[in-house]
Amino acid sequence: MEKEVFVIAGPLPIHPEVMKAASVPMFSHRSPRFQVIFQRTAENIGKIIGTKNDVYLVPSSGTGCMEAAIANFFSEGDTIIVVDNGLFGQKFAANCRKFRLNTVVLKEDWGQPANVERILSTLESTPQAKGLFFVHSETSAGVLTEVPDITRPVREKYPDLVIIVDSVSGIGACPFCMDAWNVDVVVTASQKALGGIPGLGIISVHERMWEYYASSDLPKYYFDLNNIREEHKNHMTFTTPSVYAVTALDRAVQLLLEEGPENRYAYCRAMRDYVIERGEKMGLLVPTKLEYATPSVTSLLLPDNMDAVQFRKKLLEEENVMVAPGLGEYGPCGFRIGHMGYIQMEDLEAALDGCQRVLNRM
Ligand SMILES: Cc1ncc(COP(=O)(O)O)c(C=O)c1O
Repeated sequence: MEKEVFVIAGPLPIHPEVMKAASVPMFSHRSPRFQVIFQRTAENIGKIIGTKNDVYLVPSSGTGCMEAAIANFFSEGDTIIVVDNGLFGQKFAANCRKFRLNTVVLKEDWGQPANVERILSTLESTPQAKGLFFVHSETSAGVLTEVPDITRPVREKYPDLVIIVDSVSGIGACPFCMDAWNVDVVVTASQKALGGIPGLGIISVHERMWEYYASSDLPKYYFDLNNIREEHKNHMTFTTPSVYAVTALDRAVQLLLEEGPENRYAYCRAMRDYVIERGEKMGLLVPTKLEYATPSVTSLLLPDNMDAVQFRKKLLEEENVMVAPGLGEYGPCGFRIGHMGYIQMEDLEAALDGCQRVLNRM
């Protein structure tokens, strides 16, 4: 079969060594061999996200750990401010409402990052707020929010506020410094820029969050972080994990550390710049300004209200190129190209060549 050019926003192409790590004979998730791999993976991710806190690998996906961030540290009726500058902020707000939190949504235009002045004024007019949530890399709109621009001034004024950051598509593609940036809870997932395969949500929580845990009255079992923490002390998961998601992630984060995270981040930025430059040259619209564009994925809009569903269908059938659909407001005439994990510049060249030919034919 001719190789598909696969440039979506996750899951992603994986390094041959990661594939090898996920293709070993099955072994026990309660074995010393697993414990060694599990501990090493969690510690290495701690290095990548700049924290001395525990890093829990949870059999699920990013969304499971989002839910854990709500269910473990809040109680019914608590107030949380959720920045909505794309689909994943909206999903988190929906998740909060399901747990009956008083969810104050702070709406930003698509393509805009979280805005610190508006966050501070919302906090001022919402003195009962217990938590703040925002997305580091909004995969739907392709927007990066610089975390410390938000957390530094917010933490200074609100030392007890629970700050939760979704970095599902950020970590591994751009720097993250959980401790230095005063983040209480951060969530990511195995199948994105860290370079693993789907199957693990990843959550790290500040030590002080266990006080919040003690007073939380929301129901939890699968995602009860205390159960997860107890097993983590033995370097195991609370429930049966995808063993291969762990072995693959282990190799992927080793490769990332060997390459040097800063080198990987620079490569992601270079790939992003290439996609934007070529996209604009062929008449596509890039709705996000370069200064806010995330290094992991770019949203592109077709000209003249062209139909994005038809475009993507032709791209796949005629060029064997798989891109991601546009989301939310960018759905009808947009699509997205990922540039993180093991995606290479050659993949992007091939994908954009295909885009150009389909555009010409349409
Ligand atoms: C920014 C962001 N948050 C949350 C999620 C949800 O993660 P998952 O699909 O692993 O549950 C995604 C997935 O694409 C995402 O990009």
